[in-house]
Amino acid sequence: MLTLKVHHIGYLVKKIDAAIRSFETLGYRIIQETTYDDIRKIDICFMEKDGYCIELVSPVSEESVVYGLLKRYKNSPYHICYETEDFEKDYQTLLTSGFIAIDEPTPAPALQNRKVTFLTNASMGMIELITDCRS
Ligand code: NI
Repeated sequence: MLTLKVHHIGYLVKKIDAAIRSFETLGYRIIQETTYDDIRKIDICFMEKDGYCIELVSPVSEESVVYGLLKRYKNSPYHICYETEDFEKDYQTLLTSGFIAIDEPTPAPALQNRKVTFLTNASMGMIELITDCRS
């Protein structure tokens, strides 16, 4: 059994400040101001509404891991992130259940350096896996 809980929905956005203002219009509030992730070359901001957490992700340079994705998908949601109580066990289970690793698990500066990784599945696309606060 996996021990997953939905943590956030990731949005690709071209202009993060403009996106924040638009989400504020809908009633979202900032729960973590924009920070720069030097590993992935992206700006990240977290917002919340009705218990739903969204992550706005904007590439800062063409070397960013999401630069190509933004060109392809434009402004759009692109992953759901799942928090796990047992990263290694759930990661291995996913790898034997039709999910393919996209990257190596690495610390996320915007999320208390918790370990994160991305996987993809032929029938549902990309997901993100993150250690929970206690791991
Ligand atoms: Ni994410």
